[in-house]
Amino acid sequence: AGPQPLSGRKVLITAGGTVERIDPVRYITNDSSGKMGFALAEAARDFGADVTLVCARTDEKPPGGVEIVRVESALDMYEAVTGRLSAFDAIVKAAAVADYRPLSKEDKKIKKKEDKLSLELVKNPDILQAVGEWKASHPGERQPFVIGFAAETGDLEKFAMDKLRRKNSDLIVANDVSEQGAGFAVDTNVVSIYGPEGLVEHIPLSAKRTVAERIWQIAAERMTRE
Ligand code: PMT
Repeated sequence: AGPQPLSGRKVLITAGGTVERIDPVRYITNDSSGKMGFALAEAARDFGADVTLVCARTDEKPPGGVEIVRVESALDMYEAVTGRLSAFDAIVKAAAVADYRPLSKEDKKIKKKEDKLSLELVKNPDILQAVGEWKASHPGERQPFVIGFAAETGDLEKFAMDKLRRKNSDLIVANDVSEQGAGFAVDTNVVSIYGPEGLVEHIPLSAKRTVAERIWQIAAERMTRE
């Protein structure tokens, strides 16, 4: 056997759903289980990489043999990811990051009073986009290979290519979350992987671990060419 595809590489993977607090006992989150991110972490570890896993809310047990950084909100994840960008050869954003958070987090539990209650939300920073902007503004430095995900319900190619360009990513893995066995909280996925040239590969219904291995094989080949 030859050398492992990711030996000597340092990779950062985000997984799980961010938690956006409303008050001490209530929050907004999403259905991400962390399974896709954990499969990517396990596959990278087994391909020889030194793995950092930035992990938001999940009920799954994280894999062994990787460094785990626990975070709660999108803002926490933003800090954890953007804090040390030049230390990584690859960054994969499999987490489902909340696009919005409550404008203010109440210190005390909100009491039941009026018939109607409205919650004001503000936009969270886009972490993937921040990574892409950092790359564009640091051309001379060691740059991470950036892989984003896209959870869509149709028009995969259009949205994936738009995200790839807007967020300056090297690959976008698009899952059609309206398909059986794809996306959130299942052990399988159906994805199409896009690069700057368009569709790179479609992976039919497969275990998330199999999908993860294929993503890393494609990434490793492109990282060597860079
Ligand atoms: O965790 P599982 O249950 O296994 O489910 C896996 C998954 C469906 C969550 C995963 O495969 C996936 O698609 N993750 C990304 C979901 C998502 O947030 O997609 P998006 O289209 O909203 O975001 C596009 C990309 O931008 C993602 O890489 C996301 O991490 C990133 N993003 C989004 C918003 C934000 N504020 N910051 C970001 O970095």
